[in-house]
Amino acid sequence: MEFGFNEEQLMIQDVARRIAQEKIAPSAEHHDRTGEFPLENIRTLGENGLMGIEVPAEYGGAGMDPVAYVLAMVEVAAADAAHSTIMSVNNSLFCNGILTHGSEAQKQKYVRAIAEGAEIGAFALTEPQSGSDATAMRCRAVKQADGTFVVNGKKSWITSGPVARYIVLFAMTEPDKGARGITAFLIDTAREGFGRGKTEPKLGIRASATCEIEFDGYVVQPDEVLGEEGQGFKIAMGVLDAGRIGIASQAIGIARAAYEATIAYVKDRKAFGAPIGTFQMTQAKIADMKCKLDAAYLLTLRAAWLKGQGKKFSSEAAIAKLTASENAMWIAHQAVQIHGGMGYSKEMPVERYFRDAKITEIYEGTSEIQRLVIARNETGLR
Ligand code: CAA
Ligand code: FAD
Repeated sequence: MEFGFNEEQLMIQDVARRIAQEKIAPSAEHHDRTGEFPLENIRTLGENGLMGIEVPAEYGGAGMDPVAYVLAMVEVAAADAAHSTIMSVNNSLFCNGILTHGSEAQKQKYVRAIAEGAEIGAFALTEPQSGSDATAMRCRAVKQADGTFVVNGKKSWITSGPVARYIVLFAMTEPDKGARGITAFLIDTAREGFGRGKTEPKLGIRASATCEIEFDGYVVQPDEVLGEEGQGFKIAMGVLDAGRIGIASQAIGIARAAYEATIAYVKDRKAFGAPIGTFQMTQAKIADMKCKLDAAYLLTLRAAWLKGQGKKFSSEAAIAKLTASENAMWIAHQAVQIHGGMGYSKEMPVERYFRDAKITEIYEGTSEIQRLVIARNETGLR
């Protein structure tokens, strides 16, 4: 068993850390306060290979492995979670699915544009009435005699929806077949029949733009179907397995930032004539924070390593996402507590870490859904 990282992995970690510290961290408070989409920083991340970390160089990416992806995501998330949400959707949810299921022409067209940072991608599964119960979707794509599909319906909570050029869309093509009646499509938002609805006002990751999207007679050409007809749900589930490694990494980045801010604070802040870090009650919190941070990190690296080896990683990704997100929420909570009144103030970043950590327990499958996936895998029961 090898616990080190190789040169390539360390290199992308360095690149991500440099951009995170020089470009992202200084504007994180501004982006959180205003909710302004960080387009310039996203382009910089793309130009440096961070929007297609696992995408082969022939399609415009960095050609690295899932462990490298974890390392880079952690660095960006530690500087600002909203940036890492955009990065995660481009890398895991958009590029990954097309790389696995797309034709050569689809990879050249869609993956390259996103991996190079020229365009932004999105992934549209959720609808107003169907989030966890994703097969209950109502968005319909009806096949025409000429092989095209006409799409009508609404998707909600679409990350990067307000700015995305291309979207991987999941729509019902044969409602009688349930999960086996769902097909994946590649959507160009510049075309007729596509519209954007209300933007979501959010608790955290405020610079990550999220909105409803609408289809009104949008026509999909036959070469814009992703994978086989009726295989869309399996494509979505496979993509989300990988995506959950990204969200686990995001949670680790947020937790690490909260933890590091706390370590600095407990050395500096004094009460009863001593630094608060000398109190045993504070020390116990610090020790528990560190254990939870490392546990999340190791579980996430395990899932990423398995993926990189081409082994099954669905359950391990759910374990990593569940542990990392719940630990991040706990760590951010302790960080606020240890900062006292300053933990509640917008003058320090810990209240932002607390708000940002919460989303990791909700999207890409809630904690309850991760538990369901893990338990189904463990027991074989449904
Ligand atoms: N890989 C491949 N196929 C899979 C799979 C996987 N991991 N999991 C299930 N499937 C297949 C099953 O084998 C089954 O196929 P057959 O019909 O051939 O048997 C089919 O999919 C249906 O599976 P289930 O019966 O298990 O489906 P279900 O209705 O019970 O739902 C679920 C399972 C795990 C709850 C799933 O609906 C789920 O993951 N829900 C959460 C949705 C989610 O995570 N949404 C995230 C949206 S994106 C997002 O949030 C982005 C962002 O934040 C930035
Ligand atoms: P519901 O499914 O209604 O769940 C409500 C509660 O019931 C939750 O606590 C849930 O865990 C619980 N619950 C549901 N079913 C079960 C069960 N079987 N057992 C136990 N408990 C259960 N979606 C996309 O498709 N693309 C995106 O880019 C995207 N980005 C998002 C960004 C943000 C900021 C947010 C908030 C959401 C985003 N989503 C996106 C949607 C996200 O994936 C869903 O919100 C999430 O999957 C939960 O679905 P829901 O909100 O409909 O909650």
